[in-house]
Amino acid sequence: MRILVTGGAGFIGSSYVRRVLAHHPADEVVTLDLLSYAGRLSNLEGIRDDPRHRFVRGDIADADLVDGLVAECDAVVNFAAETHVDRSLLDPAAFVRANVTGVMTLLEAVRRHAKRMLQVSTDEVYGDVEPGRFSVEPDPLLPRSPYAAAKAGGELMCRAYVVSYGTDVVITRGCNTIGPRQYPEKMVPLFVTNALTDQPLPVYGDGMQVRDWLHAEDHAAAVDLVLRQGRAGESYNVGAGNERPNLDVVRALLAHLGKPESLVVHVPDRPGHDRRYALDWGKIRRELGWRPTRDFERTLADTIDWYVTNSEWWGAIRRGTDDFATYYERQYGWRLAVAGASGTGAR
Ligand code: DAU
Repeated sequence: MRILVTGGAGFIGSSYVRRVLAHHPADEVVTLDLLSYAGRLSNLEGIRDDPRHRFVRGDIADADLVDGLVAECDAVVNFAAETHVDRSLLDPAAFVRANVTGVMTLLEAVRRHAKRMLQVSTDEVYGDVEPGRFSVEPDPLLPRSPYAAAKAGGELMCRAYVVSYGTDVVITRGCNTIGPRQYPEKMVPLFVTNALTDQPLPVYGDGMQVRDWLHAEDHAAAVDLVLRQGRAGESYNVGAGNERPNLDVVRALLAHLGKPESLVVHVPDRPGHDRRYALDWGKIRRELGWRPTRDFERTLADTIDWYVTNSEWWGAIRRGTDDFATYYERQYGWRLAVAGASGTGAR
C-alpha cells in the first residue's frame, strides 16, 4: 500500500513514517509537510532517501496539491496540525486553518477518490476530566482551549463526511506523547533542554495538573494498527495508563539528569489550564490488541537520553533562525540562553 503521511516531518509523524518503512516492506510512503517551525527535514534523516519514500513540501490546505497526492495513494494519515496549546492562546486563527480547514481539504480529496483516512486527534477534545473518571469514546467533545476546539472541529468535519458521504475515516485520540524529535516548546523537551543548559524550568501554577504519558513509537504503532484494522467511522482512544502530576514528571526528569530541583520556578498558570486528562483505552486494546510497550520510567528515560545524545538537533532549534527564542521570550518573559549543553550526570 502507498500511504500519504501528512505532517510526516513532525514529531509523531516522523516516528510513524519510520515505523511504516521498517515494519511493512511492501509499503511506500509519501510525506507531505509544510516544514513550518515544528516540521523539519532533519526529522527524516536516514529515511528521506529511502527508495520507498518520497518527500513533498506543501500545505494540507492546498486543494490542488492534496488532490493529486491523494489520487496516487491508497490511504492518508493526517498528523499535520498546529499542536501547541500555548501558541493557540496567542494566535487561534492559525489553528483553525490547519486543524479545521486543512482537515476538510484532505477529506474532500479522500471522498472524491474513495480512499481511507486516519485523522490523528487528541485526548484534549474531551476537555478537563474529573478525578476518578476516564474519557471513553462516545463521551461528548468539550474542548476548552483554541487548540483543542480546533482539533474537535477537525474531528466533527470527519464525522460529517462519514455520515453525509460514507467516507472511510477513522480517528485516534492520543494522550501526551514524548520521545525523539519533539519540538522543544512542549513541557518535557523544553525542561530537558533547559536543565541541560542550567536554565530555569517554568512550571505553570502549582504543577499538580495530571497528564498521561506515552512514547511516540508506541503512539505510532497504535495509529498504524487503527489505519489497517480500525472500523470505518470509529474513534479509538490511545492512552498509556501513565497518569502523573507534572511536578512528579519534572522531579523524575531532574533526577535522571542529575540536576537540582532548585531549577524549578513556578510561573503564572496557563489560562484555562485543563487540570487532568485521562483516557479509557480499553477499546483499542480489546478490538485491535494494542498496548504500549514501555512503562512510564522507560518512556521518560528513553526520551531524556535521546535529547542528551542529540544536542545538535535541539541546539540548532534554540540557536536557529526560526522563531523559538522570540516565542520563548513572549511566552515566559525570559531571554533564552543559547549556550550548548553543560556537563550532566545523565545515566
Ligand atoms: O494530551 C495530548 C496533547 O498533549 C496534544 O494533543 C498536544 O498537541 C500536546 O501539546 C500536549 O498538550 P499539553 O498542553 O498537555 O502539553 P504541554 O507539553 O504543553 O504541557 C504539558 C503539561 O505541562 C501541561 O499541564 C502544561 C504544563 N507546562 C507546559 C509548559 C510548556 C508547564 O507547566 N510549563 C510549560 O512551560
